[in-house]
Amino acid sequence: MTANSGAPLIEMRHIDKAFGPVRALAGVDFHLGAGEILGLVGDNSAGKSTLMKVLTGAYRRDGGEILVAGEPVDFASPRDSRERGIEMIYQDFALCGNMDVGQNIFLGRWPRRLGLFVDRNRMYGDAARVLDRLKVDVNSVHAKVESLSGGRQQSVAIARALSFEPKVVIFDEPTANLSVMATAKLLETMAELKRQGVSQVIISHRLTDIFEVGDRVMVLKRGVNAGERLIKATTEKDVLELIVAGAA
Ligand SMILES: Nc1ncnc2c1ncn2[C@@H]1O[C@H](COP(=O)(O)OP(=O)(O)O)[C@@H](O)[C@H]1O
Ligand SMILES: [Mg+2]
Repeated sequence: MTANSGAPLIEMRHIDKAFGPVRALAGVDFHLGAGEILGLVGDNSAGKSTLMKVLTGAYRRDGGEILVAGEPVDFASPRDSRERGIEMIYQDFALCGNMDVGQNIFLGRWPRRLGLFVDRNRMYGDAARVLDRLKVDVNSVHAKVESLSGGRQQSVAIARALSFEPKVVIFDEPTANLSVMATAKLLETMAELKRQGVSQVIISHRLTDIFEVGDRVMVLKRGVNAGERLIKATTEKDVLELIVAGAA
């Protein structure tokens, strides 16, 4: 697969989604190229998380089309989109605090021996390899997740996502609760994933982060497209104006 073979890797056309009387998304268009890092920005309640949850199938859309590599898809749940290589890392990480790192990475699919016993060697060995690919030093694959810092818990959530070998990774507000060090580490991870050809979406209020790793930024405002820019051709000030005022 090449980046410029025509169709974008992901395309969403004219997406509508309402929650009761709230129109969260009204005719939103979205696209993502192979190996691209897209910053998705906008004020609180603009519809950023909803748009990505519609993509993964966590939410059903009311209208519009979704295409993966040019082919229409209809994901009923994140399990379906996972099969097409799409992973989303939620703001709260969605981990089990009282289980250890290895158990969390392979939650719901612990490797078995003779179809019966959990193959602990394989599980912790594979967990260590995924963390290594991420260049993350979660001290021990046996540590309970609740004993780890926010940054390390996030690494576990990312490791779990990467263990599915995704083509697309969506990060929802990943740096909101991270230390400066952990944020730098995450941005490094994103750059490394890009080198490996993984497409990524980062939802963030921190334009600095998006300008550091992003290729393009897309702005939502109250559920509609409010403009997009190539990072190399814009400024934080310009993007802030789009967030506040929308495209002219
Ligand atoms: N599960 C839900 N039930 C009801 N309303 C929701 C739900 N998810 C999102 N919304 C509403 O949809 C709008 C967009 O929310 P969201 O996508 O979370 O915005 P953002 O991520 O940009 O802050 C908001 O008005 C929010 O309250
Ligand atoms: Mg959100």
